Amino acid sequence: MQCREGQGTGPENLLPEKSLTDTIAMDIDTTAVNRLRHRFGEHDQVWLFGYGSLIFKADFTYLERKPASIRGHVRRFWQGSHDHRGTPESPGRVVTLAPQAGATCSGMAYLIRPDVFDYLDHREKNGYLRFSTTLTFDDGTHAPGLVYIADPDNAAYLGPAADVIIACQIAAASGPSGRNRDYLTELADALDALGDVDPHVQALVACLPPDSSP
Ligand code: SIN
Repeated sequence: MQCREGQGTGPENLLPEKSLTDTIAMDIDTTAVNRLRHRFGEHDQVWLFGYGSLIFKADFTYLERKPASIRGHVRRFWQGSHDHRGTPESPGRVVTLAPQAGATCSGMAYLIRPDVFDYLDHREKNGYLRFSTTLTFDDGTHAPGLVYIADPDNAAYLGPAADVIIACQIAAASGPSGRNRDYLTELADALDALGDVDPHVQALVACLPPDSSP
């Protein structure tokens, strides 16, 4: 697959709902809001569900991790990344969860101490909010936990686009955490290792133009 010049990088493709100027000017740091969202009280351990980079980049302290899933959501590359896998001028695309009745999204569950959210809230600050959810483990047991979701109201949200448009945007973007294409392929590999088949992720990998870096 070849990206036409400008495909996936022009404002008409990247920012269906907002102008580029609005995007550059916005302040979308959710850190302070997330700090107020949950009181951990006597809970000294919390389950966190990860479905994107939190599966393949676990650079935080955890007590235990194991595969899990949550219901009623699908993984989608619909969130803009201005701080990790892109820049304000050329945002990348990373995953968020979209509600879908009957769906199951698989990922990785981490049992963490509440103070780890100081780091995680900073890492996920580009539009993600913490939500309560129910995790289902591979043995069929359940546990309450938290998940970061970037919903359509956040200023960095990009929303749906054709697979080829999303793949070309990903191929063109890079940020402080590395290339956006590596986020996609590392996520695909991690899902493969979990035995998960995510048609959305696989379709985007299939649309990625060849890697031209040496
Ligand atoms: C997650 O991995 O659970 C959230 C999205 C991301 O950080 O890639």
